[in-house]
Amino acid sequence: MTNPNPSAPTMRCCHRLRVRWAEVDIQKIVFNAHYLMYFDTAMADYWRDLCLPYEAAMHLLEGDVFLKKASVEYHAPARYDDVVEVGLRCQRIGTSSLVFDGRIVRGDTLLVTSELIYVYANAASQKPQPVPEALRTIFDSFEAGQTMSELRLGDWAALGDLASVLRTDVFVQEQGIGAHMVWDDADASAVHAVVVNRLKQPVATGRLLQHAPQIGRIGRMAVHRGLRGSRLGRDVLHALVQAARERGDTEVMLHAQRSAEGFYKRLGFVSRGQQFEEAGVRHIEMSMVL
Ligand SMILES: CC(C)(COP(=O)(O)OP(=O)(O)OC[C@H]1O[C@@H](n2cnc3c(N)ncnc32)[C@H](O)[C@@H]1OP(=O)(O)O)[C@@H](O)C(=O)NCCC(=O)NCCS
Repeated sequence: MTNPNPSAPTMRCCHRLRVRWAEVDIQKIVFNAHYLMYFDTAMADYWRDLCLPYEAAMHLLEGDVFLKKASVEYHAPARYDDVVEVGLRCQRIGTSSLVFDGRIVRGDTLLVTSELIYVYANAASQKPQPVPEALRTIFDSFEAGQTMSELRLGDWAALGDLASVLRTDVFVQEQGIGAHMVWDDADASAVHAVVVNRLKQPVATGRLLQHAPQIGRIGRMAVHRGLRGSRLGRDVLHALVQAARERGDTEVMLHAQRSAEGFYKRLGFVSRGQQFEEAGVRHIEMSMVL
């Protein structure tokens, strides 16, 4: 996420929130302990900005991150209905420690600063262990402004294994769709898109078929549950639409799950016809002229 506040230019991760009534105290200012919750919420965004689905990434790295110490300095209060920005920056990585600077601003007014010290540890014993080199590099690269993911386009031989991991997680396990509906012969001739993060984990996927002469068909769009809303679905859709355009298609169509209709609409697709059921899920046909 780009930093929307010029007064916090060094923070690559910035989370925006609105102060709720339940968070203010008798003095009508935010109760001091809530600021730690604001920082914690921003930390979840930080991991998302690293393109790391937290649980799956920690499982792969065989560790976990625990908060060891948090210090907070109050400069000015936030009040009910204020929109504040919470910025975080990884300031230093020790052997097993990760030190973050945080700050909360309202417009140009600095409200709160903090230092958060996390320890990388064994998930079961909670004993500190060295921050893995891969994670160290990810933090350094992110703070240096580098991109955290790579979009690959290719055939099933190149991307099938990666795409299958996500299809299993999202369609089979999360949505309960039968495996026989998730893979088919069309995979062999389709153009596939997969986004991988810096740990080489697949985090988003989709495919493009030739539905009819000059008409492409997009399908099997899936984004890792922990990273939805991070624009990965949009990146995959744009790449597949572009692939269709480049091969000379004049239209792309798709069967959208009704729950995803708004996503496709936002990106230029138009619904047509009646709702129907496919794999036990309500769908609508959508299309876009290229
Ligand atoms: C549908 C899906 C692929 C969208 O991917 P995503 O990465 O979460 O979406 P993005 O972050 O790229 O969103 C792009 C835009 O669409 C909007 N959007 C995303 N999902 C939406 C939804 N379900 N309804 C309405 N709008 C949605 C976002 O707010 C964003 O809008 P903005 O650009 O104005 O901020 C993802 O939610 C997913 O995998 N869902 C489960 C599987 C599924 O339903 N697949 C589709 C089968 S047809």
